[in-house]
Amino acid sequence: MPINMQLINALAVAMSVSPAAAAIKGFNYGSTFNDNSVKVQSDFESEFKTAAGLVGAEDFTSARLYTMIQGGTTNTPISAIPAAIATNTTLLLGLWASGDTFDNEVAALKSAISQYGSDFASLVVGISVGSEDLYRNSPTGIAASAGIGKNPDDIVNDIKTVRSTISGTGLADVPVGHVDTWTAWYNSSNNAVIEAVDWLGLDAYPYFQNTQSNDITSGKSLFQDAINKVNTASNNKALWVTETGWPVSGDKENLAVASTDNAKTYWDEVGCGLLFDKVNTYWYILQDAGKTTPSPSFGLVGSELTTTPLYNLTCPAVVSSSTSATSSATSTGSSGSTGSATGSATSSPTSVPASNATGTPTGTATGVASGTATSSATGTATGFSTGAASTGTSTPTGTPGASGTSTPTGTPGSATTPAGATGTHASGTSSSTSPAFTGAANTVSASVTGIVAAIFAAVVAF
Ligand SMILES: *[C@@H]1O[C@H](CO)[C@@H](O)[C@H](O)[C@H]1NC(C)=O
Ligand SMILES: *[C@@H]1O[C@H](CO)[C@@H](O)[C@H](O)[C@H]1NC(C)=O
Ligand SMILES: *[C@@H]1O[C@H](CO)[C@@H](O)[C@H](O)[C@H]1NC(C)=O
Ligand SMILES: *[C@@H]1O[C@H](CO)[C@@H](O)[C@H](O)[C@H]1NC(C)=O
Repeated sequence: MPINMQLINALAVAMSVSPAAAAIKGFNYGSTFNDNSVKVQSDFESEFKTAAGLVGAEDFTSARLYTMIQGGTTNTPISAIPAAIATNTTLLLGLWASGDTFDNEVAALKSAISQYGSDFASLVVGISVGSEDLYRNSPTGIAASAGIGKNPDDIVNDIKTVRSTISGTGLADVPVGHVDTWTAWYNSSNNAVIEAVDWLGLDAYPYFQNTQSNDITSGKSLFQDAINKVNTASNNKALWVTETGWPVSGDKENLAVASTDNAKTYWDEVGCGLLFDKVNTYWYILQDAGKTTPSPSFGLVGSELTTTPLYNLTCPAVVSSSTSATSSATSTGSSGSTGSATGSATSSPTSVPASNATGTPTGTATGVASGTATSSATGTATGFSTGAASTGTSTPTGTPGASGTSTPTGTPGSATTPAGATGTHASGTSSSTSPAFTGAANTVSASVTGIVAAIFAAVVAF
């Protein structure tokens, strides 16, 4: 193990704090099944109830949507909304921004606000304007036939439209973001979008990073590298993980083997180890094999919608020790507010030889958090930014990494073209639950052609 990885691991422990019982946990939900049939309210209700009862993960009660529009309609609000109200499921709304249906997305958002009122508003935890639009408009996205994307200036305009749409409504205080691949967030030509959002949504799949050494034992470090890259570009905006996961079945991607065992390892190391209760996280995915099974398949349950998962989702107990650490940081929010945050960390000596690392910790919280972490290890850290962008307080949470060590990696994500947008994308429709492998280093899906290593190499160079 190279020293920088030791440092990353040491700091992941040293900077790990647990203030964030508030961190959101949930799953992604497409508007259609894998066979393109449209989900109706009872389908969403079944999925949400299953999520709320999923053994070992009963608290994954938030749902990320990709579109506001019910499948098969022009601009009727998606039936996931009444299903969420019926099941007390919180919502990360999504407006599909590419193509020519954005006006319909906004109309559906307006209708939902007036039709469902405070029952709806009280469940909405975020709004994403677009999903991987910038990636699809990049050379790699175009080369991969990923579909129609959108330019950063247009995404910024869409964000403004959504902000004015929710102004003065029950959703006025909901944080507005955008979801994209790490390569898009790391591309400085897209900085206007970073300036426009309250939070950055990141999709990352080490399994698809097939130009790299991506066996499951590297899954956690590849994921961490992607996070570190985005954090360097994020201008201290909060980072949400909007898609990640490891498939239970499917082709081998370079060294990455799709298997139930590996999916569990990834859940334990990345989900339990880095994300859950620390960073707002939407795992990919509760079920993607409802009618037909895609390849690869990422579902925590198989073709039967059941609360018994394919593998044990109960997070391994964290071995606590007498070594606890406090970290403090002062933060300067982008709005100019300053605050400070302290947290305590419990290190887990069984997992990390954390005793000798030294360095200068720089935690990233809501604002620019530069602080000192004291524990059995100190080091250079770049943490997730998890605080609400509108507040001046910062919460330095874990998953720091050593600076200068990350490798540009692809972060394929879900295209999940909403049914409401059918026909507006050059590549036609894609299943709402098929990951479209839209990252720089990904390969093939039913709707996306392969992307060669040479293309990835070009991306690495930027
Ligand atoms: C809904 O869930 C929230 C937690 O997300 C809980 O505080 C609240 O009591 C629930 N409401 C109902 C009606 O079950
Ligand atoms: C960087 O972003 C701009 C604007 O979205 C895009 O035109 C350009 O192709 C991107 N470059 C790469 C290498 O992805
Ligand atoms: C599931 O994992 C948890 C945490 O490691 C463990 O305590 C529990 O015994 C496991 N359950 C089963 C059925 O193996
Ligand atoms: C700490 O130092 C000891 C002795 O030099 C060494 O064996 C060990 O690998 C070091 N640990 C780390 C995390 O660098």
